[in-house]
Amino acid sequence: MSKLVFIETMGCAMNEHDSERMLAELQTKEGYTPTNSPELADLILINTCSVREKPERKLFSEIGEYNKLRKNGAKIGICGCSASHLGAEILRKAPAVDFVLGARNIAQISSIIHRDKAVETDIHEDSSHYIFAATQSPSKLRARINISIGCDKKCAYCIVPHTRGKEISIPLDIIIAQAQKAIDDGAKEILLLGQNVNSYGKTFSAPHPKVDFTKLLSELATIPKLRRIRFTSPHPLHMNDTFLDAFARNDKICKSIHMPLQSGSTKILKLMRRGYTQEWFLERAKRLREMIPNLTIGTDIIVGFPHESEEDFLQTMHVLEEVRFDTMYSFIYSPRPHTEAAKWENDVPHSIASERLARLQERQKEIMDANNQREIGKTCETLWEIPREDGLMEGRSDNAKIVRAPLRRELIGQISAAKILDSRRTYLIGEAI
Ligand code: 5AD
Ligand code: SF4
Repeated sequence: MSKLVFIETMGCAMNEHDSERMLAELQTKEGYTPTNSPELADLILINTCSVREKPERKLFSEIGEYNKLRKNGAKIGICGCSASHLGAEILRKAPAVDFVLGARNIAQISSIIHRDKAVETDIHEDSSHYIFAATQSPSKLRARINISIGCDKKCAYCIVPHTRGKEISIPLDIIIAQAQKAIDDGAKEILLLGQNVNSYGKTFSAPHPKVDFTKLLSELATIPKLRRIRFTSPHPLHMNDTFLDAFARNDKICKSIHMPLQSGSTKILKLMRRGYTQEWFLERAKRLREMIPNLTIGTDIIVGFPHESEEDFLQTMHVLEEVRFDTMYSFIYSPRPHTEAAKWENDVPHSIASERLARLQERQKEIMDANNQREIGKTCETLWEIPREDGLMEGRSDNAKIVRAPLRRELIGQISAAKILDSRRTYLIGEAI
């Protein structure tokens, strides 16, 4: 019988991709099969996120839970950002752990599982350490391709440059070859991943030719059977006119963009070292909406950053009203080690920060309801991915909305128009036409 691996993934799309890559390595090189039951697994991997403190604190109690339920001889490995950040400390605090594998070391998964109490957290500067095959979503219709590793920004709150290291770009020819292979294997859509996708090409190792993100997008669009290109996450600072034009004009690029605002106050943005102002952000969003009428915009927002006054918070609410985001991830600021802001006094009491978060989320819900209601009566191109158990099928429109419609099996895996008949906060209801 083949060995079983259970993987729990926390955090962002990059981490999901890393988990898929580890699974692919374990399947092809070590004969593992995935399982959803940790108690049956021979190998339990926790792929961690360290962006906020609370989940990281909970990691140790989680390790204790897995330790209790694991079967005899099963190994526990801690991977990802907290592994990079805490390293050998994890072994000292949690003797149940068998190995620790950093976010930038996941290529070593198939060797580390054979070593005892090993810790791999070294950061390599050479992209050859990070070249893997693309991974595919369970439906095999979407392939995820990593275009860059690490982050060279210095956002005052963010631990990621510490956990994932300096930014390096994967060479263009390799990305194109991975995309071509994924399409040959049946994918219709590719999702390009990087901490900062639109600074792609800034760091290149010779002899690969230097290209930028817009060139990467136009090269990918020439692959004949590739229908859709998505990417995450871009940085608002690098949304120059060339990027906006390429995004708007290229038919294969899905008309949905993540614009992580973080704060609407120019004062706070400066303290955060984001490099843009409220005016820049609003002007870019307005320009995009003018160029692309059906565009959807998502964002990330932090409340309670040091020195955030009520007036600063109202500036964030103002941007919410102006841009009317379609999706929003929002967080209370959490001081993290190895960041600039961790050295500052946190002068916003937690009670005020959570009250601001509640206000922000309340308003955002109304905006999402209203945005989705406006979709009723429209038609949108939808890639039908999953037949559901309730007689419906689910897909994604070209502007990244989730669409549900009565199941038509012949359409699974196809892109077709859908007429939108009704809406909920997080999805649309329609019929395929
Ligand atoms: N505290 C709270 N939220 C944070 N994020 C990043 N660092 C922190 C922090 N220290 C949020 C940002 C980022 C998202 C992935 O997590 O909004 O875009
Ligand atoms: Fe992703 Fe950042 Fe969390 Fe790492 S710390 S998993 S890069 S969100």
